[in-house]
Amino acid sequence: MKITVFGTGYVGLVQGAVLADAGHQVVCVDIDEIKLARLRLGILPIYEPGLEPIVRETVADGRLSFTSNPAEAVEHGTVIFIAVGTPPNEDGSADLQHVLAVAQTIAKHMQGYKVIVDKSTVPVGTADRVAEMVTLTLQQRSQAIEFDVVSNPEFLKEGAAVADCQRPDRIIIGTASKRAEALLRELYETFNRNHDRVMVMDVRSAELTKYAANCMLATKISFMNEIANIAERVGADIEAVRLGIGSDPRIGYHFIYPGAGYGGSCFPKDVSALIHISEELGFNPLILSAVDARNQAQKDVLFTKLYKHFAGQIKGKTIALWGLSFKPNTDDMRDAPSRVLMESLWAAGARVQAYDPVAMDETQRIYGQSPNLALVGTKEAALQDADVLVIVTEWRTFKTPDFEQIKKSLKEPVIFDGRNLFDPKAMREKGFTYYAIGRGDV
Ligand SMILES: NC(=O)c1ccc[n+]([C@@H]2O[C@H](COP(=O)([O-])OP(=O)(O)OC[C@H]3O[C@@H](n4cnc5c(N)ncnc54)[C@H](O)[C@@H]3O)[C@@H](O)[C@H]2O)c1
Repeated sequence: MKITVFGTGYVGLVQGAVLADAGHQVVCVDIDEIKLARLRLGILPIYEPGLEPIVRETVADGRLSFTSNPAEAVEHGTVIFIAVGTPPNEDGSADLQHVLAVAQTIAKHMQGYKVIVDKSTVPVGTADRVAEMVTLTLQQRSQAIEFDVVSNPEFLKEGAAVADCQRPDRIIIGTASKRAEALLRELYETFNRNHDRVMVMDVRSAELTKYAANCMLATKISFMNEIANIAERVGADIEAVRLGIGSDPRIGYHFIYPGAGYGGSCFPKDVSALIHISEELGFNPLILSAVDARNQAQKDVLFTKLYKHFAGQIKGKTIALWGLSFKPNTDDMRDAPSRVLMESLWAAGARVQAYDPVAMDETQRIYGQSPNLALVGTKEAALQDADVLVIVTEWRTFKTPDFEQIKKSLKEPVIFDGRNLFDPKAMREKGFTYYAIGRGDV
């Protein structure tokens, strides 16, 4: 099938490449010319495991191409995905300007029937707004061309996005149009062989499903962070509690890890957006507000522990920091807990010596001008002459370090572990002062 994808970010690029890999003819559109020029050379704008070879092969085979020409792009696809960003506004609501701009672009150039697919995460009612924009623009052109707007939210996880798109656990199609449904079923046929993953529902339910999914996951994390804070104060070990509750199949082991707070481009903004949607309708979303508040507070937990350890004397200290991206296997720094920590440390007069396996360029782009940041090439180099070590992201390479070397390199044998990678007792036996999350120390 002929597919057009607007937006070549984490969602659009991965989905476009995976659809091309499955045999479709895909044109990806973006307004960022530099990104497109680099993509044509096979240079990816993001780090995503397994993506580069698929992009390279599908481009070489002529199944995937990149353009900034909207007329050409709209002409190409019968199915047109909108996968542009929906960042938060100041008030927490989702900024729909890019989605609506794409809707207008499609309507300006379409000559025949199109299925316009909202893949971006958008507030309930956005499909109606996209349809209104298309209708209005077609009227301005004095054209009456048929189209459908479908909600088809994306559930991929950064760091495993290719696998998630190739083997989706659900394909939600929000539409009342049989014609659009049939086209999307055909599009996703290759991904739906093992068992039927397609769930067809009304468009508003599809839109809400995406927010509900992310808010549920964020709730699990904030809940565990809350219990971890209680565990510290009552002298319990959150790791034992985690195993104890995870064994109940109604709770399960997934997503109940305490830590330094959730980040990334989805959970924080989607929780805020659903809070905003609810409040606009006169409903007070008590749970969502608490999930958000716990997360904001959780991002300060590591700094608070450092502050206490140094009895407030952080000025002039050098902090080794392992892990910058908001989670492993991605270079995404949006809303990453490391940012809150680094900014607090700088405000308190500390220097940060940081290493991340893939997020160094992105950190350089954001904080390159910060005088108190040194980005170094290895995890060992981050330790050199640092006072203490803080682990913020649970990259695999940080899970089995050379503890003797850490002790030799640091001025004090102190580790602040924001991801509970090690056993506190074993760490004490190795001679470390070890601060974790919810494991005894407040
Ligand atoms: N990142 C994720 O893990 C993830 C997962 C599921 C859903 N989503 C949702 O998908 C959407 C996209 O997220 P993302 O992380 O891929 O965003 P992103 O910021 O990585 O990419 C968005 C791209 O859209 C481009 N763009 C903006 N306006 C455009 C226009 N008018 N025409 C063409 N291109 C345009 C930008 O230049 C950018 O390359 C968001 O709504 C997000 O919430 C993201």
